[in-house]
Amino acid sequence: GIEGLKRELLLEILDNAAFFAGLGEQIIKKIPLLNGKTIINLFFEPSTRTRTTFELAAKRLSADILNFNISASSTSKGETLIDMLHNLEAMHCDMFVVRHDQAGAAHFIAQHVSPHISIVNAGDGRHEHPTQAMLDMFTIRKHKGDFTQLRVAIVGDILHSRVARSEIHALNTLGVAEVRVVGPKTLIPKNIQPLGVKVFHNLREGLKDVDVIIMLRLQKERMQSALLPSEHEYFQYYGLTEEDVDVAHPDAIVMHPGPINRGVEIASSVADGGRSVILQQVSNGIAVRMAIMAMTLGAMNKEFRF
Ligand code: CP
Repeated sequence: GIEGLKRELLLEILDNAAFFAGLGEQIIKKIPLLNGKTIINLFFEPSTRTRTTFELAAKRLSADILNFNISASSTSKGETLIDMLHNLEAMHCDMFVVRHDQAGAAHFIAQHVSPHISIVNAGDGRHEHPTQAMLDMFTIRKHKGDFTQLRVAIVGDILHSRVARSEIHALNTLGVAEVRVVGPKTLIPKNIQPLGVKVFHNLREGLKDVDVIIMLRLQKERMQSALLPSEHEYFQYYGLTEEDVDVAHPDAIVMHPGPINRGVEIASSVADGGRSVILQQVSNGIAVRMAIMAMTLGAMNKEFRF
């Protein structure tokens, strides 16, 4: 998780990611840092970006990685999760990358497997999505440099968002001037102020003069169906249009962790427009996940640091 992560370590991860991203020079597509290491992607929830970029990151570091197909596993024959993990452990793995719909799942798994296996949290329920926050911080730093003068607005379904939680912790750790959360009362946690954010319910008031706009989708998979807002109405009040972006700082960037829902939380003209860095976030995810894997498995040394 990002909560409690030291600023120095977060910056070291971003610096190492910058090395892998090549900083505008040649992108590193193969380096023998994790030769002989075995990594398993254990995704109990769907994913496009996170699973694929972890896989690419591992391959670029020369590790062997396998995407474990949970739905086709013997858990359907009654095998418990712990027994399944012990069997995977017996195959001499070095790392599990875990996504699960339950908060604390990665931590739980870490407590039940050998301490020789590293566990990376690829999203746990509505708790945290630490590598997403790291790649978002990497993207912001690339565009804005210094964090301390920045105003950042996170817009949408904050209540169900693990990305929002991790980002709020990361932005505060890096010392941004102001973190705002913007959304309807029903989608902002009542006890959010202690996290050091300003709350706005009006989109344009929340976006005024901000340097970074982070849009979030409605996470319907974590909502009771009776409480689902109308998508049409939601877009009217909280969908990001070009006119809304105009109230932000003239150099503001628009971000979104994906998947995007066009016409619900963001207009296509903004998602595909000149301020959008959404696909850059995806590219940066590979470098950040390379840094996480290499550092976690003890493969970084001074020679490889940026
Ligand atoms: N941002 C993100 O976690 O996307 P995926 O669910 O596709 O991995």
